[in-house]
Amino acid sequence: MSTSVGHRFDGQVVLITGASSGIGAALARKFANEGAHTVLVARRVERIEALAAELTATGRRSAAVAGDVTRDGDLERAVDVALKEFGRLDVAVANAGLLTTGRIHNLTLDDYRRQLETNLFGALRTVLAGLPALQETRGRLVLIGSLLGMISAPGSTAYCVSKFALNGLSDGLCHELAPYGISVTHVMSGFVDTEIYDKTTLRRPTQKWIQLSADDAARQIVTAVYRRKRCLILPWPTKLAILLQRHFPQVVYFAINRAFRKATRQREAEAAVQTGKTAT
Ligand SMILES: NC(=O)c1ccc[n+]([C@@H]2O[C@H](COP(=O)([O-])OP(=O)(O)OC[C@H]3O[C@@H](n4cnc5c(N)ncnc54)[C@H](OP(=O)(O)O)[C@@H]3O)[C@@H](O)[C@H]2O)c1
Repeated sequence: MSTSVGHRFDGQVVLITGASSGIGAALARKFANEGAHTVLVARRVERIEALAAELTATGRRSAAVAGDVTRDGDLERAVDVALKEFGRLDVAVANAGLLTTGRIHNLTLDDYRRQLETNLFGALRTVLAGLPALQETRGRLVLIGSLLGMISAPGSTAYCVSKFALNGLSDGLCHELAPYGISVTHVMSGFVDTEIYDKTTLRRPTQKWIQLSADDAARQIVTAVYRRKRCLILPWPTKLAILLQRHFPQVVYFAINRAFRKATRQREAEAAVQTGKTAT
């Protein structure tokens, strides 16, 4: 028997990392709309406390837990809060992430470490901390990956490495956790308009049709999680890109190479103008 939209997670408990902005905050609101109690984890504690208060005011319970996914023990503490406050854990969403941009010559080993520590090991910490409680409820795991876990983009290679790794993690975990009744949903998203781009040099695309709002992404993710889908690719142009990569990798290589060389020429021209200005 299926449950009606608006009640699909009634009484369930959902833990979300990176709930202080973007997709994580939108997911918290959407899960709460579907009847869930939420545990919100992030470093910007004032933001998750405000969100927890907002959700509590709508009639769902919510707890904010200051936590850093790169730190051992923080996720275990968040799961403890879920169990102490709400008595169970049904869904754990490994969403926290950052986007490191820059080419290999401009990045250090520590930049790569920070990227992997957050996007890959942060997700692993969420999985490991959540597993015992999820086994009790035959619950759901969600890994927020990216289109850049299927297609590597120059200038975002560190990020791509972290998201490619999530691919391997989710595919293997699906099999390993099936006997325990735990589903794994891997979300591969294209462009979603969030703060993640604010700290980078990347320009947001101007074409509306290739982007999603965080609310739209959250709506689709919650439905996929409810249905225990193994993989969700969104929005539709992302599906097209992955299809091309699978069947015509040379076409994708050519397109990326062309765009990259154009960007390099533009960068060099801008640098030359800058140098000229400094010299005068
Ligand atoms: N936006 C896109 O186009 C897009 C596309 C594909 C995939 N994604 C993925 O979606 C996820 C969410 O990103 P977003 O776009 O919603 O960006 P966002 O608005 O910048 O949100 C990132 C979240 O991650 C949290 N976070 C970062 N480092 C953390 C750490 N060490 N410990 C705990 N929390 C941490 C941030 O919280 P605090 O800073 O408060 O800790 C924030 O809540 C990321 O995994 C991202 O890679 C995004």
